[in-house]
Amino acid sequence: MRKPFVAGNWKMNKTVKESLALVRDLLPGMEAVTGVEKVLCPPFPSLFAVSTLISGLDIGLGAQNMHWEASGAYTGEVSANMIKELCQYVIIGHSERRQYFAETDQTVNRKVKAALSAELIPIVCVGETLEQKQAGQTAGVVIRQVRDGLQGLTSVEASRIVIAYEPVWAIGTGLASGGQDANDVVKDMIRPTLASLFGENIAQAVRVLYGGSVTGKNAAEFFNQSDIDGALVGGASLKVDDFLQIIKAALK
Ligand code: 13P
Repeated sequence: MRKPFVAGNWKMNKTVKESLALVRDLLPGMEAVTGVEKVLCPPFPSLFAVSTLISGLDIGLGAQNMHWEASGAYTGEVSANMIKELCQYVIIGHSERRQYFAETDQTVNRKVKAALSAELIPIVCVGETLEQKQAGQTAGVVIRQVRDGLQGLTSVEASRIVIAYEPVWAIGTGLASGGQDANDVVKDMIRPTLASLFGENIAQAVRVLYGGSVTGKNAAEFFNQSDIDGALVGGASLKVDDFLQIIKAALK
């Protein structure tokens, strides 16, 4: 049984004060839902403040990125150990990081390993662009991202990760993937790749989320699929009613 998982990726939104206000509004509704792993991923400056607000509650905290080195002269970067004092999760290889900050499968792999060494749970993002989809390259791209991003992990390490399938063309566009189409990618590309790397048991145990224009209205379409275990939510995670509706829908 894979426990349903819903994470809100706030991206570069919300000051510390605004973050606290949003979390205060979300808390009663989030606390009311049990049986779903619920995670908030605010920007770095808000992590400490949000961690104090949700301390002791059944709500997880995640960062949106990290560096693979443990410490040193890397101006502007943040290490796994720094995140670990506040968070349980870290998003790695989001398509916006790949697109605007030159992240590759190789840097994703280094980050995933560093996160796991610090006992953080990496939420590893994969997904094809519109051009790749139109060129019929979805399988090739997604399989490569999973294989190279997770290269060298032990089976035990692999069992701890979460994968988010986020087709780039669906992110922030309002054009979500169809539930069945997203499920096909997870079932026919992502899980078989996990199986070839780590065995069938691990492939069936790893949670795989869908991300890309998920809303309160369409969330159930994804959660009703056989192989989708939750959502990585962008825009709608900043809206109290929408995000709570998505979390409730995850209790399928
Ligand atoms: P949207 O939900 O805004 O499309 O963003 C999805 C996403 O990128 C989550 O990481």
